[in-house]
Amino acid sequence: MPSTPDHKFISETFPAPVMPACSIIKLLKGQKALVTGASSGIGRAVAIALGHAGADVAVNFVSGPDAAEEVAAEIRRCGAQAITVRGDVGKEEDVEAMFARVIAEFGTVDVLVNNAGIQKDAPFHELTLAQWQRVIDVNLTGQFLCSRAAVREFRRRGVNKEISCAAGKIICVSSVHDIIPWAGHVNYAASKGGVAMMMKSIAQEVAPFRIRVNSVSPGAIRTPINTEAWNTPGAYADLLKLIPYKRIGEANEIGRAAVWLASDESDYITGTTLYVDGGMTLYPGFETGG
Ligand code: BGC
Repeated sequence: MPSTPDHKFISETFPAPVMPACSIIKLLKGQKALVTGASSGIGRAVAIALGHAGADVAVNFVSGPDAAEEVAAEIRRCGAQAITVRGDVGKEEDVEAMFARVIAEFGTVDVLVNNAGIQKDAPFHELTLAQWQRVIDVNLTGQFLCSRAAVREFRRRGVNKEISCAAGKIICVSSVHDIIPWAGHVNYAASKGGVAMMMKSIAQEVAPFRIRVNSVSPGAIRTPINTEAWNTPGAYADLLKLIPYKRIGEANEIGRAAVWLASDESDYITGTTLYVDGGMTLYPGFETGG
């Protein structure tokens, strides 16, 4: 078995592929997308990737309007429309107002990316009800409220063949922790496990209306949510023990998966989870153990 090389060696030897901005193939041309939590991290990368693929994008944020505006500007630079829309996905009135605004501006919504998510970590015996509830509110209830609003719009409109074979697509950004238990993060893992079963149950119910619902489950992706896991050589070396592919993921790799799941290229796919994790879900301990 090869030993795990150090941080510097890895980052120089196995970089993530660099893709051209503003893709020439506009897979999502004419589609209207809403991405929640899109002012930073994975949501930002997904919003930009959808925009580069030709979709008009509503960039949701809860705080930091300037960062959301930058994301919208990058989308416009590539020729698509973009708006920013504030709203806390855990609050029903915010979600309803957000959808009303996006539909008023864009005419409809074809793609929802349920991305907004937070961590509030604590040892289980110290986990407060407030920490539990806030994570469930944003990560699980937020995905429920946004999915319900999207399905109502998809059913109202039905299929517009000029735009897509499907009446609508929902992409739930989940996590490898929808199947990998995570000590010290019980609220977060419970919320993502909930997303996995919610996604499949909605998919089963709405498939006859030609609405597709899938998850993308990222592993360790270089974003602000997990800085401590990669920003020192020691932490990065420890992280690599969990990743058979031996590099951290980049946010735009989730963006590319989302573009594909939103496009007609994946038209026969519903109710599935696409793990984008460098093999983190492959029980890496068994590489040498067992
Ligand atoms: C979490 C990250 C973590 C990754 C892999 C994600 O869902 O948000 O903090 O690094 O899972 O454990």
